[in-house]
Amino acid sequence: MRLIIIGGGIIGLATGWRMRQAGWEVTLFDKRRAGEGASWAAAGMLAVCAELEPGQEAGFALGRDSQLRWPGFVRDLEIATGQTVGYRETGTLEVAVSDKDVARLRDSYTFFKQLDAPMQWFTKDAACDLEPALSHHIQAALFAVEDYHVDARAVVTALREAFLRSGGKLIEDCAVKALRVEDHQISDVETAQGVYEADHVLLAAGWEARDLMLPLGIDLPITPVKGQMAALDGSVLRDTVLTHVVRTDHTYIVPREDGRIVLGASSEPGASDRTITEEAIAELVQGAIEIVPVLRDCPVIDRWAGVRPASPDGMPILGPSGWAHLTLATGHHRNGILWAPASIDLLCDYIQSGVESPLFQAFSLARFDRL
Ligand code: FAD
Ligand code: GLY
Repeated sequence: MRLIIIGGGIIGLATGWRMRQAGWEVTLFDKRRAGEGASWAAAGMLAVCAELEPGQEAGFALGRDSQLRWPGFVRDLEIATGQTVGYRETGTLEVAVSDKDVARLRDSYTFFKQLDAPMQWFTKDAACDLEPALSHHIQAALFAVEDYHVDARAVVTALREAFLRSGGKLIEDCAVKALRVEDHQISDVETAQGVYEADHVLLAAGWEARDLMLPLGIDLPITPVKGQMAALDGSVLRDTVLTHVVRTDHTYIVPREDGRIVLGASSEPGASDRTITEEAIAELVQGAIEIVPVLRDCPVIDRWAGVRPASPDGMPILGPSGWAHLTLATGHHRNGILWAPASIDLLCDYIQSGVESPLFQAFSLARFDRL
């Protein structure tokens, strides 16, 4: 069976790799180099608790499922490629620096405890024991014990390699221009390099997926949300400054093994350019210094931007598209790295069997009345 995948981000590459392992012939198109979209920009937090809120309970369940799949996913990827992907099983500390923050964290704590999430309430002293570089202005913290992290760039680099080694065909710098349909099913795709036939097509084109669906009469509710990021050189400090992800409601700090300290991120709905602004970077650096003062000694060594694919409820759109043999996989917004292992397993099962898992239903396009 022939599968065409449109988009080589974490979702397209990982699904392609798994479908090759299942014996399908897979061709993946990316209009740029695969892996250099939102997946390249991501901080790599696997943050079920820190990134999700009331109303996103289905996303929480998908996230918990995915957290459990991450160790096996990393193991398979590292065996397939011989590359490491910086997966670290240290939790995330969300700190409060004001009374308002304390009240917000108390609400979060109650919400996540109801969901049985592995979450602990920390006093200021407990938080500073865990991370001695924290500011003494911290009032309290929530410790999301299993909100681990990974190096997202290393993951997509390894996935590209795993996909190629498994025999997948990768066609880069080649945009898919149109999806062609006949008798209510997908027949082939028109690309910058000609027309390709497929038995099944997976649309994993991130925030740009909407453009390909509009001519088919489906208005996919996906909008771009730009995020600007920066990295500091933590190696100028004598000691390792942080071992956990540390965050507030507006800034997060992700320490990497190589000494880079990644800071994120702006959230700019509607923006799809990747330009960097001094104000956004200064805000990130200021936000980080506020909670970890020693970071003022670390120079900014990198800055970049990416574009998140956002659906109206912040959760992915997976599954039927309204056209037979055309499957949707977009809308992973702020959590595409976290959700990838669970999303791709659902997608692979669906592409092979045509049967929707009940888990899948919360993520169907049908929830937006667009089918
Ligand atoms: P992408 O990685 O964007 O891939 C889509 C691909 O499709 C691109 O390569 C693009 O070139 C290609 N494409 C588009 N149109 C076409 C076409 N017509 N033809 C061919 N190819 C096409 N998530 C987390 O879980 N944890 C985090 O810490 C985190 N941090 C983030 C920080 C930032 C700043 C940003 C921007 C995102 C972050 N995310 C995070 C979210 C995560 O990065 C995304 O949800 C995820 O990468 C989406 O993956 P994707 O494969 O759907 O899209
Ligand atoms: N999940 C982090 C971000 O999207 O910025």
